[in-house]
Amino acid sequence: MGKTPTPHIEAKAGDFAKTVLMPGDPLRAKYVAETFLDEPVLVNQVRGVNGFTGTYKGKRVSVMASGMGMPSIGIYSYELYHFYDVENIIRMGTAGAMQPDLALRDVVLGIGACTDSNYAKQFGLPGTYAPTASYELLEKAVSVIRDMGGIRYKIGNLLSSDAFYNDNAQTTALWQKMGVLAVEMEAAALYMNAARCGKHALAICTISDSLVTGEATTSQERQSSFGDMVKIALETA
Ligand code: HPA
Repeated sequence: MGKTPTPHIEAKAGDFAKTVLMPGDPLRAKYVAETFLDEPVLVNQVRGVNGFTGTYKGKRVSVMASGMGMPSIGIYSYELYHFYDVENIIRMGTAGAMQPDLALRDVVLGIGACTDSNYAKQFGLPGTYAPTASYELLEKAVSVIRDMGGIRYKIGNLLSSDAFYNDNAQTTALWQKMGVLAVEMEAAALYMNAARCGKHALAICTISDSLVTGEATTSQERQSSFGDMVKIALETA
């Protein structure tokens, strides 16, 4: 374990559980802690990035926001893995569907995460790195989903994009041709940090909008599908 507190997290060593759930939004982290965890304790609020540790069915679990995009989740996941001895990070986010057979509110588990970012450049690899989920976490999440029943889900590649507003409209079609299921902005950096550190990561996303049909969920729909995703993540933790 490295030095704590870190530049971005004020928690002390031992304040985080071995598994941290990461929504993008700090208010979602607070909502998860207050709604689903027993005896949640606030362990971080630097930059408003709320982090809590509590228990779920007797199991110690933490939840902290990742912020948006790969630089942000890159910082938080690095510090959690390296300085707080965290073993598992489960991202709970939204994603835009890139395939016609994905409906709003479907769950996508990212077995891999393609990216248009340069995040992997720092590792100096002599080729293209393929960021992947932890098989253990993925297998557990799939069995949780099957046990819960009634959840529409797919397992496949995500695209972690640096640009939400991409000036080049052609790029989507190219990723679609490769069978990429959905676009979000964090999983690839999370998977790379986990791999580099010998730790575990999984991105669970719900479809909030479709790049195929142009539909989008209402905030009410996002809230209820978020609840399913939290249950999947908590049972997987
Ligand atoms: N693009 C990138 N990230 C997203 C999207 C999207 O369309 N929807 C939800 N997260």
